[in-house]
Amino acid sequence: MKIDILLGLQWGDEGKGKVVDVLTSRYDVIARFQGGPNAGHSLEFNGIRHVLHIIPSGIFHKEKMNVIGNGVVIDPVIFEEEILALEKMGCKPTENLRISKRAHLILPTHRLLDAAYESKKGDRKIGSTLKGIGPTYTDKTARTGLRICDLESPAFESKYRQLIKAHKEILDQYHFDYSDKLPEMDRQWRASLAKLRQFPFIDGEYEIHDALQQGRSVLAEGAQGTMLDLEFGAYPFVTSSNTIAAGAFTGLGLDPHFAGRVFGIVKAYCTRVGSGPFPTELFDETGQRLRELGFEYGATTGRPRRCGWLDLVALKYAVMVNGVTDIALTKADVMSGFDTINVCTAYRVNGELTDHVPTDPDIPVEPVYTTLPGWKEDISKCTHYDELPESFKAYIRYIEEQTHTTVSIVSVGPDRNATIFRN
Ligand code: GDP
Ligand code: IMO
Ligand code: MG
Repeated sequence: MKIDILLGLQWGDEGKGKVVDVLTSRYDVIARFQGGPNAGHSLEFNGIRHVLHIIPSGIFHKEKMNVIGNGVVIDPVIFEEEILALEKMGCKPTENLRISKRAHLILPTHRLLDAAYESKKGDRKIGSTLKGIGPTYTDKTARTGLRICDLESPAFESKYRQLIKAHKEILDQYHFDYSDKLPEMDRQWRASLAKLRQFPFIDGEYEIHDALQQGRSVLAEGAQGTMLDLEFGAYPFVTSSNTIAAGAFTGLGLDPHFAGRVFGIVKAYCTRVGSGPFPTELFDETGQRLRELGFEYGATTGRPRRCGWLDLVALKYAVMVNGVTDIALTKADVMSGFDTINVCTAYRVNGELTDHVPTDPDIPVEPVYTTLPGWKEDISKCTHYDELPESFKAYIRYIEEQTHTTVSIVSVGPDRNATIFRN
């Protein structure tokens, strides 16, 4: 049995949550492998939109097991909010959600540190979601973090206090006043642990291997996107985890021999929240039109997303570093009505044409575009590939030729049912 991996190929918000939900029926286990509540994964069915942050997007299929892997960072407060929202609508997540004992905990002071670090960066601000992601992964690599398994240890209280104390010392150095906020944050955090403790804490790496050995199939769900990867994104304007396919192996404890298909989710245009290079960004009414029609506002922070044309240089790079086998193309319905569509096929860097993504984010990049015909038709009601307009199919073929992959899924709306499978 193989494990398939699903991840974003751009700057996040490609529609991963929706596609995971759609694909869940094919798998036995859905496992999130990195990131934390910086993610906002939306999915929609029966006219209701749901946004998940830490919980895998297979949770609505009650017969499927969902696992929060060791690579994820968990804020108990946000976890509790998500669980309460699910329970309110009749779900019983305690029956189909398990948490790796090796996953790290986001402490209240991690969130304060995130704010303190960002406020000192000035115009080098990353535009963090301020969920404490960077500081939590920093403690993980510094070997000072707290994990889910620590909640079961008698030493938990002293470890927690020790880490909070260390964080306060840093906050003091940053002259960041936490005195009015921290007591309430601490109270809330401790109270929310009761909900977390209702879930099975597991040795995720064993459970996933056992599942695969027993012939059960697994879908690994990524968060953020390849261009936000800690190694391969435009560092330092990245998140603090490995969002690429390799992250699924460390984030779940997988044996690479089990690797199966890699589904790369691609929005038909590009968006980015937060700072950092975005070569195809549109500052004109076209960008505004994509934002309004695509409802491009952050699912986690509500911030307006920066919008631009599809960037094939970045996409080819993402396909390369992830070993993508299948593309799921989302949100092309948003582009209906454009006379023409631009796609970036090269960058001009220091006057020279290149198809490589520069390593230094400070190097100015000018996009070089190819213009393709747009499509006028509303595609949101199409249910078969053959019903799609010719010019949209030509756009898909162009993406396939450029990336040497297959677009095997076309999403034409936020709803679960607005999905076209090829073959
Ligand atoms: P994720 O973080 O990759 O899961 O993506 P988000 O949920 O943050 O953002 C994607 C947004 O687009 C959500 O509001 C989805 O409901 C919506 N969406 C997903 N696929 C489609 C699609 O094919 N068409 C349209 N119009 N909206 C979509
Ligand atoms: P999903 O899973 C889009 C961005 C932030 C910021 C940078 C670092 O919904 O696609 P962090 O809070 O991780 O320290 O922020 O990464 N970012 C996302 N952008 N979608 C996401 O997740 C993101 N998670 C983080 O805006 O620029
Ligand atoms: Mg999102």
